[in-house]
Amino acid sequence: MNILEIKENASLQHLNSLALPAYAEYFCSVTDTNQIQQALVFAADKDLPITPMGGGSNMVIAGDIQGLVLHLDLKGISSKPVADNQVEVTFAAGENWHEMVQYCLQQGWYGLENLSLIPGNMGAAPIQNIGAYGVELCDLFVSLQAIEISTGELIELDNRQCEFGYRDSIFKQAYKDRFLITHVCLRLSTQPIAQIQYPALADAIGDRTPTPELISETVCRIRQQKLPDPAQLPNAGSFFKNPLVTESGLSRLESNGSQSPRYPQADGTYKIPAAWLIDQCCFRGQRRGEVGVHEHQALVLVNYGGTGAQLLALATEIQDAVAAKFGIALEIEPRLYGV
Ligand code: EPU
Repeated sequence: MNILEIKENASLQHLNSLALPAYAEYFCSVTDTNQIQQALVFAADKDLPITPMGGGSNMVIAGDIQGLVLHLDLKGISSKPVADNQVEVTFAAGENWHEMVQYCLQQGWYGLENLSLIPGNMGAAPIQNIGAYGVELCDLFVSLQAIEISTGELIELDNRQCEFGYRDSIFKQAYKDRFLITHVCLRLSTQPIAQIQYPALADAIGDRTPTPELISETVCRIRQQKLPDPAQLPNAGSFFKNPLVTESGLSRLESNGSQSPRYPQADGTYKIPAAWLIDQCCFRGQRRGEVGVHEHQALVLVNYGGTGAQLLALATEIQDAVAAKFGIALEIEPRLYGV
């Protein structure tokens, strides 16, 4: 049995992609379900709240975190062929997302190409239903396994039970803070497939044959042009969700004289790029002390060495400016901690 090591007053700065300086009262990294059970007992004995952590790429740690920060670092992959040229692949929560995309491509298991280079780990992917370039996790998702924090019991949830939405799932709603995701099962195709309807991707592919390898390479290239590498310039990807507006909201937006890009949704609303709204308020490339807005993507806030409080002050300034100019409330996408 692997004995669990628990640290006290542990720095989290190197574990969050925004590199925000903060400490955990207690911290442990778990590599199997047995260690998870040990960690749950430790926290229950001391009556500590538990904060799960994966790759740390969707966290804004604005202050120290009380209780036990539990870093889910389980590894492993298993697969089984299923009907219709498909394969079900189960990944442990601590596997790195992009490494798994590449691994699947090498195995000839297709479907994840559009989601290349998304930072973070497998276990966090269902929480916000990660999505990019026309594909969302829920399109490929079969089920997940999770451990209930209060009881230590293992549960399995299928696609419907996860209640996926745009950057949303039951783990951001009714099940918030209640479960530790340990494994994720996805259904992939053993036949090449190509999803190139997203305009920026279609333009970049042009008239070349859209093989899975080409799609993955192209998505990586687009992302590298626009999105800063957290290892070079700390960030948490998109800082705000793209807001949905109704037909009347759209007319209000346009009464400003601005013609915004918009993506019609199945329910009759329109998704407006938050990046465009922020850009119209002239924030792109702006800096406030040691935090700022990325020069190539207005939706990405970057940290040059500042704190979570400074980053949140900039986020509020942006939200206020967008609300004043367009009457639209921007919602922060990554999860806030230590506030
Ligand atoms: N735009 C601007 N200014 C900018 C950047 C973009 O005006 O600085 C406008 C352009 O009109 C562009 C439109 O915004 O056509 C959309 O931009 P982009 O294709 O870069 O996508 P996004 O809506 O800004 C979303 C996701 C990203 C995902 C991309 C590609 C959200 C919150 N963000 O960004 O996800 O990679 O689409 O599919 O939905 C993430 O969640 O961390 C993330 C990076």
